[in-house]
Amino acid sequence: MNREELVAAARTAQERAYAPYSHYRVGAALLTATGKVFTGTNIENASYSLTICAERVALFCAVLAGERHFECLAITSSGRGRLSPCGACLQVLAEFAPSLQIIISTATGELEQYSLREMLPYAFSLETESKS
Ligand code: THU
Repeated sequence: MNREELVAAARTAQERAYAPYSHYRVGAALLTATGKVFTGTNIENASYSLTICAERVALFCAVLAGERHFECLAITSSGRGRLSPCGACLQVLAEFAPSLQIIISTATGELEQYSLREMLPYAFSLETESKS
């Protein structure tokens, strides 16, 4: 699975977005260490804060299917700007895949790639908590 194929899977998932409030559609495709792909899209709610992002839908589906090792995440959006994964999703991704690579498809179709550590250098971890 190459980067373009993973981005295409995210774009397909984006079409399933339920975004009647923001009209901002997001797609995510998560590649596991075993080569499987799990996709997600944002699902909004009339009680806005209950909305879930595309990235977490993809991750939670993968974990439910028994996957816990991930290599790469591709994300796409319907916006004109550049989509950056939200901090909440980065924290949730860091739980399972601190070395994850994140591919962002820009509005113009170019691909940008970052590591999760670059995007969230100080993720919360219980292991770093003071023991005093
Ligand atoms: N959204 C995502 O799905 N992923 C992100 O990383 C940022 C935001 C969604 C949530 C909401 O449905 C819409 O984008 C606007 O915030």
